[in-house]
Amino acid sequence: MTATGSAPTSNAKLAAWVDEIAAMCKPDQVHWCDGSQEEYDRLSEEMVQSGTFTRLNPEKRPNSYLCRSHPSDVARVENRTFICSEKQEEAGITNNWMAPDEMKAILRKQFDGCMRGRTMYVIPFSMGPLGSPIAKIGIEITDSAYVVVNMRIMTRMGQAVLDVLGSDGFFIPTLHSVGAPLEPGQKDVPWPCEGDIERKYIVHFPETREIWSYGSGYGGNALLGKKCLALRIASVMARDEGWLAEHMLILGLESPEGEKTYIGAAFPSACGKTNLAMILPPEGFKGWKALTVGDDIAWMRPGPDGTLRAINPEYGFFGVAPGTSYDSNPMAMESIKENSIFTNVALTDDGDVWWEGMDGDPPAHAIDWKGNDWTPDMDHPAAHPNSRFTAPASQCPTIDPAWEDPAGVPISAFLFGGRLSKTFPLVYQSLSHEHGVFMAATMGSEATAAAIGQEAIRRDPFAMLPFIGYDMADYWGHWVAMGKRTDVKMPPIFRVNWFRKDENGKFIWPGFGQNMRVLKWVVDRVNGKAEAVESPFGLMPRYNDLTWTGIDFDTVKYHGITDINREGALGEAEALKEYFAKFGSALPPELEKQRQALADRAGKAPEVWSSAA
Ligand code: OXD
Ligand code: MN
Repeated sequence: MTATGSAPTSNAKLAAWVDEIAAMCKPDQVHWCDGSQEEYDRLSEEMVQSGTFTRLNPEKRPNSYLCRSHPSDVARVENRTFICSEKQEEAGITNNWMAPDEMKAILRKQFDGCMRGRTMYVIPFSMGPLGSPIAKIGIEITDSAYVVVNMRIMTRMGQAVLDVLGSDGFFIPTLHSVGAPLEPGQKDVPWPCEGDIERKYIVHFPETREIWSYGSGYGGNALLGKKCLALRIASVMARDEGWLAEHMLILGLESPEGEKTYIGAAFPSACGKTNLAMILPPEGFKGWKALTVGDDIAWMRPGPDGTLRAINPEYGFFGVAPGTSYDSNPMAMESIKENSIFTNVALTDDGDVWWEGMDGDPPAHAIDWKGNDWTPDMDHPAAHPNSRFTAPASQCPTIDPAWEDPAGVPISAFLFGGRLSKTFPLVYQSLSHEHGVFMAATMGSEATAAAIGQEAIRRDPFAMLPFIGYDMADYWGHWVAMGKRTDVKMPPIFRVNWFRKDENGKFIWPGFGQNMRVLKWVVDRVNGKAEAVESPFGLMPRYNDLTWTGIDFDTVKYHGITDINREGALGEAEALKEYFAKFGSALPPELEKQRQALADRAGKAPEVWSSAA
């Protein structure tokens, strides 16, 4: 079978690649996706007919579908994710590695004939606004119609992308198969995938900028524009080309005077990024507006004046459903009212969706994510904890008018945070760019001692641990180097921690919309309107530097989330000695210098340092 004859592209390289993949995978037919509504509706209807999709009640959830994955295929598979650089050092100590030739040999065998009995879809997609100088074009070949319809929500997809690509444009080839060929006459299952975990592979070839993914149909394993391209491959391209591809939400904050300040914020997976990206200013912030540009990924390049300009390379939200409610995130709830796909949530008797943490009482009866009857007295959740919604970003009521600006939005501050119950204060600002890189490189969340042995903090540098496409230490070096460039103005860096606990183990800070109080201080700092005092960790607000109208939060509580215990700060500097040692000579010396500076500042601090007064 050849694809060239029907290929709607003048790009010879693309046509040849599609032919080559078709010859290897041996599908029954090849379909080039045009990205039209008609195509989306037709594929969705086919999936309804085959049992993959359930159409939701059009009165409750217009033009929306529920999908249940196979119970073995419910999340990204980090232990089957590989960075196949030529040299192992290039992948670094935090990534799985195999030599590219060896990996290709394994994969070629698995891909041989893997699309038998299926349609091979060719999906042209753009990460970022079509034609933006910051955007990149990818082509995903897949045998999953579920992937096609999700990619249409998550990326700009279809013929328009081929038109921009032209006859000699650059594209990133990405190949995906669910790994479940059909024998003649064999009936398909609703969620085909490879059952043997050892045969699942999510593979990146950074030098040749290729992605091959086999065996899973779920999320980041299969929607290759997201984590695979926009983070793992893009991080390598960003290093080589002098820009940044980050696991960050992008949020615009507009003051009552109309001054707009954009921040990029990185948090590990499942730490509320979507909530912060769609924050609503609480009582006491009259006239302030928060505007969403993106909830997961930011690509940033210096503009002509050196300001870092950011785009959201995605076109939709692939958010975790459980816990999303009108209470926790009303803008997400508004975004998923229609034209959305729900994967592994529960189905209510009136044909709508439900998950744990949604507003109101649980339904008296539902069908759970495995397709079984469910009632609230059962001891398992109705929705899978990693169940997802896929929704167009344009449906978010707070989407920023500039979110599709091809030039990107100017970034004025970076925020980094994890979940830490003690030692680390609510917010602190870096003393220098290199100190900020140190703060981001050492971020992480607490894990239970049993899971991690001695180390109390599971480090997730820059929230990029599962997503960096090369050596982590080299990536820190790239951030250090960006700060040394005279043609780039790197924004100030802040660390935040919403998760300090009191002596009874209860969160002290209310979080959610109240995080706006911290964001306002950050905005005021970068605009030269707020004061700070120097603590062992960095520059911090005193109690009166934050806005407290509309909340009852006294100085005693403020002490609880901002006091710094000398032992704790010294302990952090000590723990980092061991952590940094793992990276050997790859560690940028600037970071060890910063570690020593932290130890020095902490050593000179009083037993309990306080900024509350
Ligand atoms: C995500 C993740 O799904 O970070 O965004 O895991
Ligand atoms: Mn993410």
